[in-house]
Amino acid sequence: MREILNCLGTKVFMADDFTDLSYHVGTYGNKTLWVCDSNTAKMVRPLPSPNVILEAGESSKSFACLERIISVAMDNNLGRDCTFIALGGGMICDITAFAASIYMRGCKVILIPTTLVSMASSTLGGKTSINFRFAKDIVGTFFPANEVLICTDCLRSLTQKDYMNGFAEVLKHSLLTKDDELFNIVATQKQKILDRDSETLKQMITISLQIKKSYIDNDPYERLGLRAALNLGSTFAYALEGMSRLQWSSGQAVAWGVCKAMEASREMGICTKEFAAGVIKLFAFYGFDVNYRIQRGDWMDYRNQLAKNKKTMNGVVSFVLLKDQGEYEIRPIDEDIIKSVVMVPSV
Ligand SMILES: NC(=O)c1ccc[n+]([C@@H]2O[C@H](COP(=O)([O-])OP(=O)(O)OC[C@H]3O[C@@H](n4cnc5c(N)ncnc54)[C@H](O)[C@@H]3O)[C@@H](O)[C@H]2O)c1
Repeated sequence: MREILNCLGTKVFMADDFTDLSYHVGTYGNKTLWVCDSNTAKMVRPLPSPNVILEAGESSKSFACLERIISVAMDNNLGRDCTFIALGGGMICDITAFAASIYMRGCKVILIPTTLVSMASSTLGGKTSINFRFAKDIVGTFFPANEVLICTDCLRSLTQKDYMNGFAEVLKHSLLTKDDELFNIVATQKQKILDRDSETLKQMITISLQIKKSYIDNDPYERLGLRAALNLGSTFAYALEGMSRLQWSSGQAVAWGVCKAMEASREMGICTKEFAAGVIKLFAFYGFDVNYRIQRGDWMDYRNQLAKNKKTMNGVVSFVLLKDQGEYEIRPIDEDIIKSVVMVPSV
Protein backbone atom coordinates (compact mmCIF):
# COMPACT_ATOMS: atom_id res chain seq x y z
CA MET A 1 0.00 0.00 0.00
CA ARG A 2 1.62 3.23 -1.20
CA GLU A 3 0.54 6.76 -0.20
CA ILE A 4 0.03 8.63 -3.48
CA LEU A 5 -1.25 11.96 -2.24
CA ASN A 6 -2.71 13.96 0.62
CA CYS A 7 -5.51 16.44 0.06
CA LEU A 8 -7.44 18.33 2.78
CA GLY A 9 -5.98 15.86 5.30
CA THR A 10 -7.14 12.80 3.36
CA LYS A 11 -4.35 10.29 2.81
CA VAL A 12 -4.86 8.46 -0.47
CA PHE A 13 -3.26 5.02 -0.79
CA MET A 14 -2.82 2.82 -3.86
CA ALA A 15 -2.86 -0.93 -3.20
CA ASP A 16 -0.70 -3.27 -5.27
CA ASP A 17 -3.57 -5.73 -5.53
CA PHE A 18 -6.53 -7.14 -3.65
CA THR A 19 -4.32 -9.04 -1.16
CA ASP A 20 -2.51 -5.81 -0.28
CA LEU A 21 -5.86 -4.07 0.27
CA SER A 22 -7.20 -6.91 2.45
CA TYR A 23 -4.07 -6.86 4.59
CA HIS A 24 -4.36 -3.09 5.13
CA VAL A 25 -8.05 -3.13 6.11
CA GLY A 26 -7.33 -5.96 8.54
CA THR A 27 -5.42 -3.44 10.67
CA TYR A 28 -8.44 -1.27 11.53
CA GLY A 29 -9.51 -3.25 14.61
CA ASN A 30 -13.11 -3.92 15.58
CA LYS A 31 -14.57 -0.49 16.30
CA THR A 32 -15.72 -0.27 12.71
CA LEU A 33 -18.94 -0.15 10.75
CA TRP A 34 -18.81 -1.39 7.15
CA VAL A 35 -21.20 0.08 4.61
CA CYS A 36 -21.61 -1.58 1.19
CA ASP A 37 -24.25 -1.98 -1.46
CA SER A 38 -25.78 -5.23 -2.65
CA ASN A 39 -23.08 -5.60 -5.33
CA THR A 40 -19.99 -4.56 -3.40
CA ALA A 41 -20.91 -6.61 -0.31
CA LYS A 42 -19.84 -9.67 -2.32
CA MET A 43 -16.31 -8.33 -2.69
CA VAL A 44 -15.23 -9.09 0.90
CA ARG A 45 -15.99 -12.51 2.35
CA PRO A 46 -16.81 -12.78 5.13
CA LEU A 47 -17.93 -9.17 5.43
CA PRO A 48 -16.86 -7.91 8.89
CA SER A 49 -19.62 -7.10 11.40
CA PRO A 50 -21.33 -4.84 12.16
CA ASN A 51 -22.25 -3.89 8.63
CA VAL A 52 -24.99 -2.27 6.59
CA ILE A 53 -25.80 -3.47 3.07
CA LEU A 54 -27.83 -0.97 1.06
CA GLU A 55 -29.65 -1.72 -2.19
CA ALA A 56 -27.38 -0.81 -5.14
CA GLY A 57 -28.45 2.33 -6.98
CA GLU A 58 -28.81 6.06 -6.56
CA SER A 59 -32.15 5.76 -4.70
CA SER A 60 -30.24 4.50 -1.63
CA LYS A 61 -28.62 7.92 -1.17
CA SER A 62 -31.60 8.78 1.06
CA PHE A 63 -32.58 9.81 4.59
CA ALA A 64 -34.02 6.30 5.13
CA CYS A 65 -30.65 4.66 4.38
CA LEU A 66 -28.82 7.29 6.41
CA GLU A 67 -31.04 6.32 9.37
CA ARG A 68 -30.18 2.66 8.84
CA ILE A 69 -26.45 3.41 9.04
CA ILE A 70 -26.82 5.51 12.18
CA SER A 71 -29.16 2.93 13.77
CA VAL A 72 -26.71 0.07 13.24
CA ALA A 73 -23.90 2.19 14.70
CA MET A 74 -26.02 2.91 17.80
CA ASP A 75 -27.28 -0.68 18.13
CA ASN A 76 -23.65 -1.78 18.26
CA ASN A 77 -22.69 0.86 20.82
CA LEU A 78 -20.10 2.41 18.54
CA GLY A 79 -18.58 5.49 20.19
CA ARG A 80 -17.07 8.55 18.57
CA ASP A 81 -13.76 6.71 18.34
CA CYS A 82 -15.26 4.31 15.78
CA THR A 83 -14.53 4.25 12.05
CA PHE A 84 -17.08 4.00 9.26
CA ILE A 85 -15.69 2.09 6.28
CA ALA A 86 -17.37 2.55 2.90
CA LEU A 87 -16.85 -0.15 0.27
CA GLY A 88 -18.51 0.90 -2.96
CA GLY A 89 -18.90 3.44 -5.69
CA GLY A 90 -19.72 7.12 -5.37
CA MET A 91 -23.15 6.39 -3.94
CA ILE A 92 -21.87 4.37 -0.96
CA CYS A 93 -18.90 6.68 -0.38
CA ASP A 94 -21.10 9.82 -0.40
CA ILE A 95 -23.70 8.52 2.08
CA THR A 96 -21.19 6.81 4.38
CA ALA A 97 -19.04 9.93 4.61
CA PHE A 98 -22.18 11.99 5.30
CA ALA A 99 -23.24 9.57 8.07
CA ALA A 100 -19.72 9.72 9.56
CA SER A 101 -19.79 13.52 9.47
CA ILE A 102 -22.89 13.68 11.70
CA TYR A 103 -22.56 10.56 13.89
CA MET A 104 -21.60 11.86 17.35
CA ARG A 105 -20.62 15.11 15.63
CA GLY A 106 -18.13 13.31 13.46
CA CYS A 107 -16.26 10.00 13.56
CA LYS A 108 -13.48 8.64 11.33
CA VAL A 109 -14.27 7.58 7.79
CA ILE A 110 -12.33 5.40 5.39
CA LEU A 111 -13.43 5.16 1.78
CA ILE A 112 -12.67 2.15 -0.41
CA PRO A 113 -13.88 3.24 -3.85
CA THR A 114 -14.83 0.39 -6.20
CA THR A 115 -15.82 2.28 -9.38
CA LEU A 116 -13.62 4.33 -11.69
CA VAL A 117 -15.47 7.60 -10.96
CA SER A 118 -15.02 7.14 -7.21
CA MET A 119 -11.33 6.17 -7.57
CA ALA A 120 -10.37 8.90 -10.04
CA SER A 121 -12.49 11.69 -8.62
CA SER A 122 -15.40 11.56 -6.21
CA THR A 123 -13.73 10.37 -2.99
CA LEU A 124 -11.31 13.30 -3.03
CA GLY A 125 -12.40 16.71 -1.82
CA GLY A 126 -14.72 16.07 1.11
CA LYS A 127 -18.13 16.46 -0.52
CA THR A 128 -20.62 14.19 1.24
CA SER A 129 -24.32 13.99 0.47
CA ILE A 130 -27.67 12.33 0.10
CA ASN A 131 -30.52 13.16 -2.28
CA PHE A 132 -33.88 14.50 -1.08
CA ARG A 133 -37.20 14.92 -2.91
CA PHE A 134 -35.46 13.98 -6.20
CA ALA A 135 -32.98 16.83 -5.76
CA LYS A 136 -29.49 15.39 -6.22
CA ASP A 137 -26.93 15.94 -3.44
CA ILE A 138 -29.15 18.59 -1.87
CA VAL A 139 -28.31 17.60 1.74
CA GLY A 140 -24.69 17.16 2.73
CA THR A 141 -21.53 18.37 4.39
CA PHE A 142 -17.87 19.01 3.68
CA PHE A 143 -16.08 16.23 5.54
CA PRO A 144 -12.84 14.94 4.00
CA ALA A 145 -12.22 11.25 4.62
CA ASN A 146 -9.32 10.18 6.80
CA GLU A 147 -8.13 7.70 4.21
CA VAL A 148 -9.01 6.61 0.69
CA LEU A 149 -7.81 3.14 -0.30
CA ILE A 150 -7.68 2.49 -4.03
CA CYS A 151 -7.35 -1.01 -5.45
CA THR A 152 -7.72 -1.19 -9.23
CA ASP A 153 -8.42 -4.97 -9.00
CA CYS A 154 -11.91 -3.94 -7.81
CA LEU A 155 -12.61 -2.53 -11.28
CA ARG A 156 -12.53 -5.93 -12.98
CA SER A 157 -16.14 -6.75 -12.13
CA LEU A 158 -17.52 -3.33 -13.11
CA THR A 159 -19.94 -3.23 -16.06
CA GLN A 160 -18.68 -1.56 -19.22
CA LYS A 161 -21.29 1.18 -18.80
CA ASP A 162 -20.16 2.01 -15.24
CA TYR A 163 -16.51 1.83 -16.28
CA MET A 164 -17.01 4.28 -19.15
CA ASN A 165 -19.01 6.58 -16.85
CA GLY A 166 -15.90 6.95 -14.74
CA PHE A 167 -13.64 7.27 -17.73
CA ALA A 168 -15.55 10.37 -18.89
CA GLU A 169 -14.42 12.01 -15.65
CA VAL A 170 -10.78 11.08 -16.38
CA LEU A 171 -11.03 12.53 -19.90
CA LYS A 172 -12.46 15.72 -18.42
CA HIS A 173 -9.58 16.00 -15.92
CA SER A 174 -7.06 15.57 -18.76
CA LEU A 175 -8.34 18.86 -20.22
CA LEU A 176 -8.09 20.79 -16.96
CA THR A 177 -4.31 20.90 -16.79
CA LYS A 178 -1.60 22.32 -19.00
CA ASP A 179 0.47 19.22 -18.26
CA ASP A 180 0.07 16.76 -21.15
CA GLU A 181 0.80 13.59 -19.16
CA LEU A 182 -2.79 12.44 -18.68
CA PHE A 183 -3.87 13.70 -22.09
CA ASN A 184 -1.10 11.67 -23.74
CA ILE A 185 -2.16 8.51 -21.89
CA VAL A 186 -5.82 8.82 -22.89
CA ALA A 187 -4.93 9.76 -26.45
CA THR A 188 -2.47 6.91 -27.02
CA GLN A 189 -3.35 4.02 -24.67
CA LYS A 190 -6.91 3.26 -25.77
CA GLN A 191 -6.53 -0.52 -25.86
CA LYS A 192 -4.87 -0.73 -22.43
CA ILE A 193 -7.56 1.53 -21.00
CA LEU A 194 -10.38 -0.56 -22.48
CA ASP A 195 -8.63 -3.74 -21.27
CA ARG A 196 -8.46 -2.20 -17.76
CA ASP A 197 -4.73 -2.80 -17.61
CA SER A 198 -3.76 -2.47 -13.97
CA GLU A 199 -0.59 -0.35 -14.39
CA THR A 200 -2.29 2.02 -16.86
CA LEU A 201 -5.22 2.41 -14.46
CA LYS A 202 -2.96 3.14 -11.49
CA GLN A 203 -1.11 5.81 -13.47
CA MET A 204 -4.28 7.34 -14.90
CA ILE A 205 -6.09 7.44 -11.53
CA THR A 206 -3.08 8.94 -9.74
CA ILE A 207 -2.69 11.77 -12.26
CA SER A 208 -6.43 12.37 -12.36
CA LEU A 209 -6.46 12.80 -8.56
CA GLN A 210 -3.41 15.09 -8.68
CA ILE A 211 -5.25 17.34 -11.12
CA LYS A 212 -8.36 17.42 -8.94
CA LYS A 213 -6.19 18.12 -5.87
CA SER A 214 -4.58 21.11 -7.59
CA TYR A 215 -8.01 22.76 -7.88
CA ILE A 216 -9.21 21.76 -4.39
CA ASP A 217 -6.09 22.90 -2.54
CA ASN A 218 -6.57 26.47 -3.76
CA ASP A 219 -10.32 26.60 -3.10
CA PRO A 220 -11.33 23.82 -0.64
CA TYR A 221 -14.91 25.01 -0.10
CA GLU A 222 -15.62 26.13 -3.67
CA ARG A 223 -15.85 29.79 -2.67
CA LEU A 224 -13.32 31.38 -5.01
CA GLY A 225 -14.57 29.98 -8.31
CA LEU A 226 -11.37 27.91 -8.78
CA ARG A 227 -12.71 24.51 -7.73
CA ALA A 228 -15.77 25.22 -9.88
CA ALA A 229 -13.62 24.56 -12.97
CA LEU A 230 -13.98 20.86 -12.12
CA ASN A 231 -17.61 21.24 -13.19
CA LEU A 232 -16.62 21.50 -16.85
CA GLY A 233 -19.53 20.11 -18.88
CA SER A 234 -21.74 19.61 -15.81
CA THR A 235 -24.20 22.44 -16.45
CA PHE A 236 -25.05 21.08 -19.91
CA ALA A 237 -24.97 17.51 -18.56
CA TYR A 238 -27.22 17.90 -15.49
CA ALA A 239 -29.91 19.53 -17.62
CA LEU A 240 -29.77 16.63 -20.09
CA GLU A 241 -29.90 14.06 -17.27
CA GLY A 242 -32.86 15.87 -15.71
CA MET A 243 -34.67 16.24 -19.01
CA SER A 244 -34.20 12.55 -19.84
CA ARG A 245 -35.49 11.63 -16.34
CA LEU A 246 -32.08 10.08 -15.68
CA GLN A 247 -32.15 7.90 -18.82
CA TRP A 248 -28.72 9.31 -19.65
CA SER A 249 -26.07 7.97 -17.28
CA SER A 250 -23.96 10.61 -15.56
CA GLY A 251 -20.70 9.82 -17.40
CA GLN A 252 -22.33 9.79 -20.83
CA ALA A 253 -24.00 13.09 -20.00
CA VAL A 254 -20.73 14.63 -18.74
CA ALA A 255 -18.97 13.58 -21.96
CA TRP A 256 -21.75 15.19 -24.00
CA GLY A 257 -21.68 18.28 -21.74
CA VAL A 258 -17.91 18.77 -22.17
CA CYS A 259 -18.38 18.62 -25.96
CA LYS A 260 -21.22 21.18 -25.76
CA ALA A 261 -18.99 23.44 -23.63
CA MET A 262 -16.33 23.14 -26.34
CA GLU A 263 -18.80 24.01 -29.10
CA ALA A 264 -20.00 27.02 -27.10
CA SER A 265 -16.39 28.10 -26.39
CA ARG A 266 -15.70 27.93 -30.13
CA GLU A 267 -18.88 29.85 -31.04
CA MET A 268 -18.01 32.58 -28.53
CA GLY A 269 -14.48 32.90 -29.90
CA ILE A 270 -13.00 31.72 -26.57
CA CYS A 271 -11.08 28.82 -28.09
CA THR A 272 -9.89 27.90 -31.57
CA LYS A 273 -11.89 25.66 -33.89
CA GLU A 274 -8.98 23.21 -33.91
CA PHE A 275 -8.87 22.88 -30.12
CA ALA A 276 -12.65 22.32 -29.87
CA ALA A 277 -12.56 19.77 -32.70
CA GLY A 278 -9.65 17.88 -31.06
CA VAL A 279 -11.49 17.53 -27.74
CA ILE A 280 -14.72 16.38 -29.38
CA LYS A 281 -12.76 13.87 -31.47
CA LEU A 282 -11.18 12.44 -28.29
CA PHE A 283 -14.59 11.77 -26.70
CA ALA A 284 -15.89 10.30 -29.98
CA PHE A 285 -12.77 8.08 -30.15
CA TYR A 286 -14.01 6.38 -26.94
CA GLY A 287 -17.52 5.94 -28.28
CA PHE A 288 -19.28 8.73 -26.37
CA ASP A 289 -22.32 10.19 -28.15
CA VAL A 290 -20.97 13.64 -29.00
CA ASN A 291 -23.45 14.38 -31.79
CA TYR A 292 -26.68 13.97 -29.84
CA ARG A 293 -29.02 16.96 -30.06
CA ILE A 294 -32.29 17.58 -28.26
CA GLN A 295 -35.47 17.91 -30.31
CA ARG A 296 -36.73 21.45 -30.87
CA GLY A 297 -39.94 20.64 -29.01
CA ASP A 298 -37.90 19.73 -25.90
CA TRP A 299 -36.15 23.09 -25.66
CA MET A 300 -38.38 24.54 -22.90
CA ASP A 301 -37.91 21.41 -20.82
CA TYR A 302 -34.12 21.62 -21.27
CA ARG A 303 -34.15 25.33 -20.44
CA ASN A 304 -36.14 24.69 -17.25
CA GLN A 305 -33.65 22.03 -16.24
CA LEU A 306 -30.77 24.46 -16.80
CA ALA A 307 -32.46 27.00 -14.52
CA LYS A 308 -32.59 24.42 -11.69
CA ASN A 309 -28.80 24.13 -11.61
CA LYS A 310 -27.45 24.20 -8.02
CA LYS A 311 -24.74 26.65 -9.10
CA THR A 312 -27.22 29.28 -10.34
CA MET A 313 -26.47 32.68 -8.76
CA ASN A 314 -29.07 35.49 -8.83
CA GLY A 315 -30.98 33.57 -11.50
CA VAL A 316 -27.97 33.42 -13.83
CA VAL A 317 -26.62 30.05 -14.94
CA SER A 318 -22.87 29.93 -15.45
CA PHE A 319 -20.83 27.51 -17.54
CA VAL A 320 -17.20 26.47 -17.47
CA LEU A 321 -15.68 27.23 -20.87
CA LEU A 322 -12.23 26.21 -22.06
CA LYS A 323 -9.86 28.64 -23.76
CA ASP A 324 -7.19 25.97 -24.13
CA GLN A 325 -5.96 22.96 -22.24
CA GLY A 326 -5.83 23.96 -18.56
CA GLU A 327 -7.22 27.46 -19.20
CA TYR A 328 -10.84 28.17 -18.44
CA GLU A 329 -13.44 30.89 -17.97
CA ILE A 330 -16.68 30.70 -16.01
CA ARG A 331 -19.49 32.80 -17.43
CA PRO A 332 -23.08 32.79 -18.66
CA ILE A 333 -23.79 31.90 -22.31
CA ASP A 334 -26.34 33.68 -24.53
CA GLU A 335 -29.45 31.61 -25.00
CA ASP A 336 -29.04 31.65 -28.80
CA ILE A 337 -25.64 30.02 -28.49
CA ILE A 338 -26.93 27.39 -26.05
CA LYS A 339 -29.74 26.62 -28.48
CA SER A 340 -27.38 26.40 -31.42
CA VAL A 341 -25.14 23.83 -29.72
CA VAL A 342 -27.70 21.60 -27.99
CA MET A 343 -30.71 21.58 -30.32
CA VAL A 344 -31.26 20.00 -33.74
CA PRO A 345 -30.87 22.79 -36.31
CA SER A 346 -33.97 24.13 -38.03
CA VAL A 347 -34.32 22.99 -41.65
N1 LIG B 1 -18.63 13.47 -3.64
C1 LIG B 1 -18.32 13.91 -4.85
O1 LIG B 1 -17.52 14.83 -5.03
C2 LIG B 1 -18.94 13.24 -6.06
C3 LIG B 1 -18.45 13.52 -7.34
C4 LIG B 1 -19.00 12.84 -8.44
C5 LIG B 1 -20.03 11.92 -8.23
N2 LIG B 1 -20.48 11.69 -6.97
C6 LIG B 1 -21.57 10.72 -6.72
O2 LIG B 1 -21.13 9.43 -7.10
C7 LIG B 1 -22.28 8.66 -7.46
C8 LIG B 1 -21.99 7.97 -8.76
O3 LIG B 1 -20.89 7.13 -8.54
P1 LIG B 1 -20.79 5.71 -9.23
O4 LIG B 1 -20.87 5.87 -10.69
O5 LIG B 1 -19.60 5.07 -8.61
O6 LIG B 1 -22.17 5.02 -8.82
P2 LIG B 1 -22.59 3.85 -7.85
O7 LIG B 1 -21.91 3.91 -6.54
O8 LIG B 1 -24.07 3.86 -7.83
O9 LIG B 1 -22.06 2.55 -8.62
C9 LIG B 1 -22.56 2.22 -9.90
C10 LIG B 1 -22.95 0.74 -9.94
O10 LIG B 1 -21.77 -0.05 -9.90
C11 LIG B 1 -21.91 -1.07 -8.91
N3 LIG B 1 -20.56 -1.36 -8.47
C12 LIG B 1 -19.75 -0.58 -7.70
N4 LIG B 1 -18.53 -1.13 -7.65
C13 LIG B 1 -18.57 -2.26 -8.38
C14 LIG B 1 -17.60 -3.23 -8.72
N5 LIG B 1 -16.34 -3.10 -8.36
N6 LIG B 1 -18.00 -4.28 -9.49
C15 LIG B 1 -19.27 -4.38 -9.94
N7 LIG B 1 -20.22 -3.48 -9.67
C16 LIG B 1 -19.87 -2.43 -8.90
C17 LIG B 1 -22.81 -0.46 -7.88
O11 LIG B 1 -23.41 -1.46 -7.08
C18 LIG B 1 -23.81 0.27 -8.77
O12 LIG B 1 -24.77 -0.64 -9.24
C19 LIG B 1 -23.45 9.61 -7.54
O13 LIG B 1 -24.24 9.46 -6.38
C20 LIG B 1 -22.79 10.98 -7.57
O14 LIG B 1 -23.61 11.98 -7.01
C21 LIG B 1 -19.95 12.32 -5.89
